[in-house]
Amino acid sequence: MVKYNIIKLKYIFFILVLITFSFPANSELSVEEIIKGRKALFSKNYSTAKKVQTYASKGDFEKTKSLILEMSKNYKSLLEYFPENTKEGFKTEALPAIWENKDEFNNLMIKSSNDMIELASIIESSDDVKDTLGKLMWGNCKACHNKYRAAH
Ligand code: HEC
Repeated sequence: MVKYNIIKLKYIFFILVLITFSFPANSELSVEEIIKGRKALFSKNYSTAKKVQTYASKGDFEKTKSLILEMSKNYKSLLEYFPENTKEGFKTEALPAIWENKDEFNNLMIKSSNDMIELASIIESSDDVKDTLGKLMWGNCKACHNKYRAAH
């Protein structure tokens, strides 16, 4: 029994080491990985936002809410995807204004994340789903892109 437990412990330790090395902190990612990573996260949020719109208008609020909270989390992760050394390259559309107004940019990201949490709690009782999504979801994309993403 004791021997069995030691084997189990070794196994758990091995798994922990594997996990540690397969999810490196962003600081260890290359510029290419960071820029491509943030583009992928924004694209993901875009397709999720479209699904949110679809499920919400169909009245499937369970599905809607879980997708909304996924978007909220992605916004929080995105805060780590704009280090100083990722201003150019790899077809980034990020504008220099981001690094000139880093606090304001980060606050917009945090606001977008928090608005999604609020959205999740009020969407079901909202009188006008489309209008609510416009204010708490789509409005934030536009507000940020206007100033911080190159016209495309
Ligand atoms: C706080 C700022 C901010 C918010 C909020 C934001 N975006 Fe963006 N978005 C950016 C920036 C900056 C880029 C450019 C990233 C790059 O090219 O490195 C971008 C890029 C994108 C891209 C292009 C990704 C690619 O493959 O090049 C899409 C699509 C996108 N955003 C959709 C959205 C949608 C939809 C929302 C709202 C649901 C949203 N974004 C909210 C800042 C924001």
